[in-house]
Amino acid sequence: MTLTLVPPPVPSRAATGPLDVLGVPGQINLDYAATAPCARAAADAVAELLPWYASVHRGAGALSRRSTLAYERARQTIGDFFGARADDHVVFTRNTTDALNLLARALPAGATVVTFGGEHHANLLPWPRGSVRLPVPNDPRGAVRALDAALGELRRGGTPNRELPVLVAVTGASNVTGERWPLAELARVAHRHRARIAVDAAQLAPHAPVDLSALDVDYLTVSGHKLYAPFGAGVLVGRADWLDAAAPYLAGGGATSHVGDATHDVRWATGPARHEAGTPNLLGAVALAAVCAALAGADRGALHDAEQALLARLRDGIAALPHVVELRTFGPAAARVGIASFVVAGRDSGEVAAHLAAHHDIGVRDGLFCAHPLARRLLTEAAGRSGRRDLPPTALRASIGLGSTEEHVDALLAALATLG
Ligand SMILES: Cc1ncc(COP(=O)(O)O)c(C=O)c1O
Repeated sequence: MTLTLVPPPVPSRAATGPLDVLGVPGQINLDYAATAPCARAAADAVAELLPWYASVHRGAGALSRRSTLAYERARQTIGDFFGARADDHVVFTRNTTDALNLLARALPAGATVVTFGGEHHANLLPWPRGSVRLPVPNDPRGAVRALDAALGELRRGGTPNRELPVLVAVTGASNVTGERWPLAELARVAHRHRARIAVDAAQLAPHAPVDLSALDVDYLTVSGHKLYAPFGAGVLVGRADWLDAAAPYLAGGGATSHVGDATHDVRWATGPARHEAGTPNLLGAVALAAVCAALAGADRGALHDAEQALLARLRDGIAALPHVVELRTFGPAAARVGIASFVVAGRDSGEVAAHLAAHHDIGVRDGLFCAHPLARRLLTEAAGRSGRRDLPPTALRASIGLGSTEEHVDALLAALATLG
C-alpha cells in the first residue's frame, strides 16, 4: 500500500545536533528545573510524526498500526535508557506527579512509605496516612544512617510491622538545591531491611545517567518536560507485581481485557495497559523517547563536565556577591546538578524575579519551589549562616542544562550585582 504523507515541517538540521535546544533569541532561560526547553531531537520526532499519527492500540489501519508501533517502541527505548529489568513495567503517565500518585495507589495494603522532609510535594503528598517523614539530614551519609535507623525501628515494631511492605521514596537530586542524594547506598539499606525504594528522578535524569538496575532501585519516575521533551508525558518504571495487583489507576478503555454485561463484570488488563486507560499521549511518548535515544548516544561525561563548569561559575559568582546568600542542605562541596537557589538580602524574591524578567530578559523561578518544608528550613539556615536579618521569606532559583552558556550565567550575576 502506498501512503501519501504531507512532508513534515522539519527545520533544517544542517547546523544543529539532536541535543541542541530550541529557544527564543534574546530570552535567557535559567528555569530548566521547572521546565526545560525542547531538544531538537524531540522537536524533530514530533514534526515527523504529526502528518501520519492516528489511533494507538485501537485501529487496524496502516497509520494506526504505525502509531501503535511508535508508542511501544518509545516505551522500549525509555525503559532501556533507564536500565529497566526485563520484567519491569514502563507505564506512561502525564509527569512525575502522576507517576508517584500511581505508585501510591498501587501500594499493597498496609504498606508504609518512608520519605525525607526535603522532598518535592509530589513525593510528600501522595503517600498514605501513617507514612514516615524523616528529618532532612545534614549530609548524604546522615541520610543513609537515618534511613537505616528508621527502617530498623519499623521492622522491630509490633508483629505486623515485621513483614508489612515498606517503600522508601527519595529524590535523586533536590529541586531546591540540586544536591544529589546517595541513591545506591539508600537502596542497599532499604533492601537490607526488606523495603523497596522508589527514586523521584525528575531533577536527576536531565543531568546524569540514571540506571534502575545499576542502582538497584525498584521504581523510578521522570517528567518529559524536564527532560527536554514537550509537556504531557512522564513514566513510572519498575517492579510489575504491585502494579499488576493494584486497581487500575484510571478505569476506562484500553485497561480491560473483558467487560461483561453486568455493571461490575470487568477483567482488567495486566501490564502497563492496566494503568493507561484512555487514548495515550503518543507525541509525548515519542518525544521523550527521542531525547532518551539522543542522550544515550551522547558523551554524557562531557555534558556533565560542561554543566558542572557552568554551575561552578554560577555558584562562585553568587558567593562573591555579599548581598546574595545561597540555600543548601548539605555542605558547599556536596555533589549537585545544575540548580542553585538563593536570596537577595533586603529584596522580595518575587520582585527580583520580575525585575530580572522585565529589565534583563532573564527567566528564573521564585517562591518555595513546591518543597515548602525544605525551602522554609533552608531559608532559616541561610539567615543563621549569613547572620543577616533581612532575608526574604521566599527564594529565587536559577537552573541550567543543555544550551546554557557562560553568557547566560554572567548576565544573571551582573543583574544580581546591581541589586546590592
Ligand atoms: C524533584 C521533583 N519531583 C517531582 C516534581 C513534579 O514534576 P511534575 O510537575 O512534572 O509532575 C518536580 C517538579 O518540579 C521535581 O522537581
